[in-house]
Amino acid sequence: MTPYEIIRRKRDNETLSRKEIFYFVDEFMRGRIKDYQMSAFLMAVFYQGLNDEETLLLTEAYLRSGKTINLDHLAARKIDKHSTGGVGDKVSIILAPLAASLGVLVPMISGRGLGHTGGTLDKLESIPGFKVTGSIQRFKKQMKEIGVAMYGQSEFLVPADRKIYALRDVTATVDSIPLITASIMSKKLAAGIDGLVLDVKVGNGSFIPRMTRAEQLARNLIRIGQAFGKKVTTYLTSMDQPLGNKIGNWLEIEECLDCLKGEGPKDLVELTVELTTEMMILADLEKKRSVAKKKCFQALNDGSALKKFLELVKFQGGNIELLLHPERVGTASYSKKLTAAKDGFISQIDTYRLGVGSVHLGAGRFHAGSKVDPQAGLILYKKIGDPVKKGEVILELRSNKQAALEEAEIQLDHFCKIQPTGVRTPELVRKRLSQI
Ligand code: URA
Repeated sequence: MTPYEIIRRKRDNETLSRKEIFYFVDEFMRGRIKDYQMSAFLMAVFYQGLNDEETLLLTEAYLRSGKTINLDHLAARKIDKHSTGGVGDKVSIILAPLAASLGVLVPMISGRGLGHTGGTLDKLESIPGFKVTGSIQRFKKQMKEIGVAMYGQSEFLVPADRKIYALRDVTATVDSIPLITASIMSKKLAAGIDGLVLDVKVGNGSFIPRMTRAEQLARNLIRIGQAFGKKVTTYLTSMDQPLGNKIGNWLEIEECLDCLKGEGPKDLVELTVELTTEMMILADLEKKRSVAKKKCFQALNDGSALKKFLELVKFQGGNIELLLHPERVGTASYSKKLTAAKDGFISQIDTYRLGVGSVHLGAGRFHAGSKVDPQAGLILYKKIGDPVKKGEVILELRSNKQAALEEAEIQLDHFCKIQPTGVRTPELVRKRLSQI
């Protein structure tokens, strides 16, 4: 068995065996298969795909590259949530403390920014001092004491996903159904969950824009979850415009704080509550959806979700003073406002372009391992269906690099369409699937 032969076989659309898949991942982790060979392998998978069995094996190989966390000693159900990636998708940061404040145990393993989409870990790290890694003992202690933890892949937890994810981010190999499936499910299965809610994004800002392929991804995720004996519900939700109004790491934390104070944008709150409701049902904490929903709104409005978020941030080393006074965190040095070219209604938003624009501004990466700028990003003042007047501000760009701001400004020209008559806002929740 050689790396060359395995890459060639996948390139030629042959089916790989358990031995070959484990060999390729293990040798990569030992440094004996190089980044360029893994990149070629990922591109071969991107074009040829993996069958169900190969996808299961790749998930297992990722999972076995590190340790797994056993939380069986905790009596309540452990339920996690994950999104396939979107622009302005900050739901996890609101949902995890919200669900925990309602009694769900939430052992969450998240990812960094990927391609044009932001990542929960980068957003959390924009809170000064917040640490997304730690020992497994610390993770377990946190789960026992406060019922929620938000960590990243590390040298202990699914290290294969950490290394391969960083490579996919810069080699245009993100939008592959089997690679997304293995990446998400290995992280989720490593943390001792009983159930999982998956938010599969569909639309022009998602990795899988078309509904039929998004459904295929949803079914793949459910299949792998079931193979490991987990309850999985998937939601197919719209990414035809960003969620909420802010895109970028610290900007998104600000918006999460608004939500946790009961003052968040409607679409973001609606989706967060929908997914948290499902977590409560999977955790057997509620039978009736309407009751669970009511409890979610109550926890957002009465401060209990915010209290849990502050506990979480404190436990992971973050500065909660700054969260209580977010205005003390300065803004980026440079900003630019884009205005509407005519009167009318916003009819379309190029969400992918906004995501790429935010990466240019410094909120994401073009090279594996490069640092992100916590303050860089975008503020979207108008969403689909909103009326606009000529000259009104529709988008604000922020960066600490003037050249980046100028480049993004060119990229983001015409990021939306304005038409003379009103349009309907895209339906947020398109489908719910829990069985295949
Ligand atoms: N989220 C992940 O964790 N992995 C992917 O590949 C895509 C989204």
